[in-house]
Amino acid sequence: MSKATAVSCANIAFVKYWGRKDDALRLPLNSSISMNLDAATTTTTVEFDPALAADEVVIEGTETTAKAAARVSEHLDRIRALAGDGFDRRARVVSRNSFPMGTGIASSASAFAALTVAACAAAGLDPDERTLTILARLGSGSACRSIPAGFVEWHTADTSADSVAEQIAPPDHWDLRDLIAIVQTAHKETESSKGHQLVQASPFAGARLEAAERALPIIRQAILARDFEALGEETEQEAIRMHAVAMTSQPSVLYWSPATVEILHAVRAWRASGLPAYCTIDAGANVHVLCQGADAARIEGDLRALPGIQDVIANRPGPGTRLSDTHLF
Ligand code: DP6
Repeated sequence: MSKATAVSCANIAFVKYWGRKDDALRLPLNSSISMNLDAATTTTTVEFDPALAADEVVIEGTETTAKAAARVSEHLDRIRALAGDGFDRRARVVSRNSFPMGTGIASSASAFAALTVAACAAAGLDPDERTLTILARLGSGSACRSIPAGFVEWHTADTSADSVAEQIAPPDHWDLRDLIAIVQTAHKETESSKGHQLVQASPFAGARLEAAERALPIIRQAILARDFEALGEETEQEAIRMHAVAMTSQPSVLYWSPATVEILHAVRAWRASGLPAYCTIDAGANVHVLCQGADAARIEGDLRALPGIQDVIANRPGPGTRLSDTHLF
């Protein structure tokens, strides 16, 4: 097969990947835990074509920037190397997201997970899930967590072969919801790739790392026990710790907008009034509001009524990255 298509979910981290011990291998400082997001997917078709002189990368119908295309080509090189001597075909890559362009949630996780699975299949490779997570990680760290289904843990390790992602529980284990409140559609100022490199400049880097290590078993256990309060409390704290490190890096990285803070206050007020919901935030201004299935409709309505919210994307736990017969070209 020379053409293949894969569909991958973005994921939201409860314990964050923030900082690396090896930049080139993308080995994280700490292990992280996430949930795949079923309504935020990337579909990618890859075709290796002997007639092409260079890789071609089209995202949402537009040629990508040289920088983004180079990162994709570098990733394809890893897969070409695995395919063996003499496999030097260039590829056509076309990619689309399920969420509207410019929502600010365009995710390198779903992008590199889908690219990995599609390119391996198009090159005639059939790696096991563990190997796919290693490959995806080399493209973008958080992408390894989008390979398995449902709730996933990515292990920190000193070698590439050991820093793999594994399922903690399947998607139907727990009807947890992630409502993404979109407050910013512009591109974020500091790419997460850069943010990782600034971590050690924060005076709080060591304290945050210790706290993330303590959070890991608490969050894993909360998922297994479907303990929403334990998961939410620790997840919200962990997000604030990650952003405290970003804010106190040099230069300081401030991802939050006024609307981000509005939502943090609103969710705390809802909790105080007995409505269980918690927040987490990735490397951007948008807020992920976690809640249980029974409260999702009400919380989505309340979120939409807040000022500064442009849209809400409602997610359930999503599947792993899978091949599809519906090619984009
Ligand atoms: C804040 O995976 O985007 O979303 O490895 O440089 O591609 P690269 O970084 P990336 O970082 C994600 C950071 C985060 C937290 C998380 O998803 O764990």
